[in-house]
Amino acid sequence: MIITIDGPAGAGKSSIARRVASELGFEFLDTGAMYRAVTWGVMQRGIAWDDVEALVQFADAACLVWQDDRIYLDDQDISEEIRTPQVTSHIRHLADPPKIRERITAQQRRIATGRDIVTEGRDQGTEVFPDAHCKIFLTASPEERARRRQQQLAQNGRAMTVEEILTAQNQRDLEDRMRPVGRLRAASDAIVLQTDGMTPDEVRLEVLRLVRERLEASATNSASGGTSA
Ligand code: C5P
Repeated sequence: MIITIDGPAGAGKSSIARRVASELGFEFLDTGAMYRAVTWGVMQRGIAWDDVEALVQFADAACLVWQDDRIYLDDQDISEEIRTPQVTSHIRHLADPPKIRERITAQQRRIATGRDIVTEGRDQGTEVFPDAHCKIFLTASPEERARRRQQQLAQNGRAMTVEEILTAQNQRDLEDRMRPVGRLRAASDAIVLQTDGMTPDEVRLEVLRLVRERLEASATNSASGGTSA
């Protein structure tokens, strides 16, 4: 069974997807970590950002492993290294070219094969798993997302103003919405959850309720489909 959670930066997708997965006994896949990992690998090797052929070759040969909430590139655990602002600012070079997305999409499908999984990203319900059993699009206003991010950073001892965060976030949202393939959008059959004014716990409970409702409906459908066939 596949549950997809897509949405813009700072909507809280990772923490919600992780918790929902754990409550349902599903696995969790952070697909942003995969784009971050190949971006980090390109930075290490010093491949030019405009050399798309070399980037495609690198993505093709890269061995990405997602295990126990950690990301490995060619056997190296780089789960912390991928979270720097430098990596974030270069991801578009790997996330934009359709040929690179094809490779990463194939790896995501391979990872999900035979598993019950909650997968989180931008294009999971639209491009990667169009037949997912339940699709959620988690979002909040740009200001609310920036405020949450500022609080999170402050808790980790990093001071940034909401305006600074908002500017960077708007730029990322724009890049994520404009790419030719895999752009950020809700699938036509996704449930859109607008989380302004909700606490993380309220969001978690609402997502769980929606997911359970959808999974029950899809089990009922396939049971009645089975009877009438
Ligand atoms: O989710 P996270 O913020 O770690 O994702 C980093 C970036 O990776 C996103 O801003 C987006 O450009 C890219 N991404 C993507 N498709 C996904 C997941 C992430 O293009 N499924």
